[in-house]
Amino acid sequence: MISLISFEGGDGSGKTTQVKLLEGYLASQGKICLCTREPGGTTLGRMIRQALLEVGREEISSPTELFLYLADRAQHVQEVIRPALKSGRLVLCDRFTDSTMAYQGYGRGVDLDILRQLNQVASFGITPDLTFLLDCPVEVGLARTAQRVVEQRSDKRRQDRFEREKVEFHERVRRGFLELARAEPKRICVLDASRSTLEVHEEIKKIVVQKI
Ligand code: TYD
Repeated sequence: MISLISFEGGDGSGKTTQVKLLEGYLASQGKICLCTREPGGTTLGRMIRQALLEVGREEISSPTELFLYLADRAQHVQEVIRPALKSGRLVLCDRFTDSTMAYQGYGRGVDLDILRQLNQVASFGITPDLTFLLDCPVEVGLARTAQRVVEQRSDKRRQDRFEREKVEFHERVRRGFLELARAEPKRICVLDASRSTLEVHEEIKKIVVQKI
């Protein structure tokens, strides 16, 4: 049985849109699910998210960054995900443990075995039943995030700390995600996210319908 589906991918891979589209489709089929995200799925998490992503915080050290993501996750699992799963709801989560492996592990260089253990603690041992990895070339993702910045010119949407990282950082993150998918092909399903939103949605829909 599928109860937790996570969506992963680099910046600008279109995860958030796909979560919403899948939620809408499932609702049209009478299946109401809980949609949530990391970082920022709780009140405390939203404070952590702001601290993490705000520009001008470039001085945050790698371990500090890591522990903030883990703190966000622990609170999120305890307050939102675990109760929802317990009550039998299907949960869709925009980013989860694989993001920590890809960004803090492959991106920042934190030891992967240590990260696996810390993820276990922060997620209370909960792992997704299914993960969609939205994969696209780094330039495609970054061009999309740059476009978002232009479209929402008001100061609400400036590039965040990660979007300002060098291309090499994002390349490492992408390679990391793909390596995680190779290691767990049953759980992590890689999708070509350079296609249109609708094409990606159709593929996700097909896979979810098969598995539910
Ligand atoms: P998000 O707002 O989901 O970014 P986007 O909409 O661009 O996908 O996530 C914010 C950033 O946090 C994103 O650049 C990835 C990063 N992140 C980590 O580095 N580690 C983590 O464990 C998580 C959950 C996110």
